[in-house]
Amino acid sequence: MTPTSPPVGRLALYPGSFDPLTNGHVDIILRGARLFDRILVAVLVSADKNPLFSVEERVGIVQEVFREYSNVEVDAFDGLLVDYARRKRATAIVRGLRAVSDFEYEFQMALMNRHLEPALETVFMMPAEQYTYLSSRLIKEVFGLGGEVRALVPPVVEARLRAKKGRTNGS
Ligand code: PNS
Repeated sequence: MTPTSPPVGRLALYPGSFDPLTNGHVDIILRGARLFDRILVAVLVSADKNPLFSVEERVGIVQEVFREYSNVEVDAFDGLLVDYARRKRATAIVRGLRAVSDFEYEFQMALMNRHLEPALETVFMMPAEQYTYLSSRLIKEVFGLGGEVRALVPPVVEARLRAKKGRTNGS
């Protein structure tokens, strides 16, 4: 292999908290799966001091949603993302950019990750317009206050939210 020839099967990591997975995340994963040979959804173990979904639940949801996609994988990770990326031999990190407001944080992370591992590229992708306002935090807030989130998350996520809150289909 020459220094310029691509490794066989380019792997991209798509890291995040995914508490919970939204249709915006799904959109980015599908775009990544078309661009790379494989995309590995890397679920951060310690997403929050008090995540709504356990890491096992968050991983299980991604597994269920992408069951039929052979080049979409999912795993949990902890510690530095660049260390995990090295272990997995990933060539890129995929992140979604929804709006200008995301840019500063994402820019900082991308450059810090580049400082830590210059060989790892961060690739930003924009979700479809209808998902640009979506976030896991808003989904939890809206659902928690009785709002409708059906069009914004995969059906399995809506069902899990209902199960957690003890809400039935009609309520
Ligand atoms: O969904 P999120 O919460 O925006 O994802 C943030 C995530 C998981 C990408 C970021 O917190 C992360 O990479 N955490 C792992 C620890 C790490 O490497 N921190 C330094 C990042 S520059």
